[in-house]
Amino acid sequence: MELATTLISHTVWNAVREVGINPNYWYPVSWANELKPGKIMSVVIWQQAIAIYRDETGNLHALEDACPHKGIALHKGEVQGANLVCAYHGWALNGDGKLVDIPYLPPKQKLPCAQARSYPIQEKYNIIWIFPGNPSLAEHCHPPDVPEFDDPNWLMVPIPGHFQAHFSICNENTMDVFHGFLHKELQGWFDPLLINLREGEGKVCADYQVSYRGLLSKFLGLSEQGNQVTTKTVSIQYGYPHYHSSLEGISSLYLMRLPVGPSLTRSFSLLFLKIRLPQWFLSIFRPLLAQIIWNWFLKKFLDQDKEMIESEQRTYLANPQRRYVEINPAIVALQRVIVKQYEQYMQQSNQPGNNGHPDSSAIATDQSQPIKENSIIG
Ligand code: FES
Ligand SMILES: [Fe+2]
Repeated sequence: MELATTLISHTVWNAVREVGINPNYWYPVSWANELKPGKIMSVVIWQQAIAIYRDETGNLHALEDACPHKGIALHKGEVQGANLVCAYHGWALNGDGKLVDIPYLPPKQKLPCAQARSYPIQEKYNIIWIFPGNPSLAEHCHPPDVPEFDDPNWLMVPIPGHFQAHFSICNENTMDVFHGFLHKELQGWFDPLLINLREGEGKVCADYQVSYRGLLSKFLGLSEQGNQVTTKTVSIQYGYPHYHSSLEGISSLYLMRLPVGPSLTRSFSLLFLKIRLPQWFLSIFRPLLAQIIWNWFLKKFLDQDKEMIESEQRTYLANPQRRYVEINPAIVALQRVIVKQYEQYMQQSNQPGNNGHPDSSAIATDQSQPIKENSIIG
């Protein structure tokens, strides 16, 4: 549905700061190269503690972080072969969470029936993904497509993010191109104009026209000295629960969001830049270049955003009844999608016979697909 690109003013609906997630999507939990074979890691997706481990043959497994014997956190245990062994009494669970051994079980005694919940897990784009919702829906849904990942013409810069804030506040920061003012000393962008806005089922697409001059313009290769004004279109696609934004084939950002809890959010982003450097140079210095760009340039932008995001959260928590005013219709559309996804999930979870899981045909989604005309809602 096409939406108006201007809004007189709108009172922000605070319900968006209180909603949970729709868990029937793939969520990023770690950079894949940080979990070596034989190691365990503890992660949290919207207050669900999960122990992930890479077995000795390199396969990944995800189990609820609670031993079925006495609830000890499984991430404190150890990996033995393909199993995760609890730190307390040494009970061994396989990758499906099924109890397979008790070291002190009398020889003639059968293993008790005990199982930890397991979660669908996969690695893609050097990110570990978990599907925390109804496991039968996992195969109908995919992490976002990142076609630039294997393309040597792009330089990939991985960007970690950690915010003491609700995921809605973080997501609004990404959709809100009007905050170029914040980055003025870093010579970011200016004169933003929302030129197109569309909303679909679980999606919001916004095109903004923005102008660049100075440091960022030079960095993106828009003008040699960075002293000319260049105007470009930034396209931002929010496909719940992640983002893709692109700048006319010059840069492309995939921002994967991990809501940890009501006031803690992480992100795993992949920024791709068209760098005009010889391939031989890139093949040697690619990781170093990515590290320099992140540490000496992009981190400064992110630190400024983090300060604003966390300030917004603190003020909200001090008085959740306080009202705020918004004039960017893209933010209002985004809030609508976030609330709707949660409500839709809760409604389907509460239907009799669903056993806490929504019906697969009703909620099946594909995070890798762009908005299709027939998915647009009125
Ligand atoms: S609590 Fe895990 S083995 Fe006893
Ligand atoms: Fe920003």
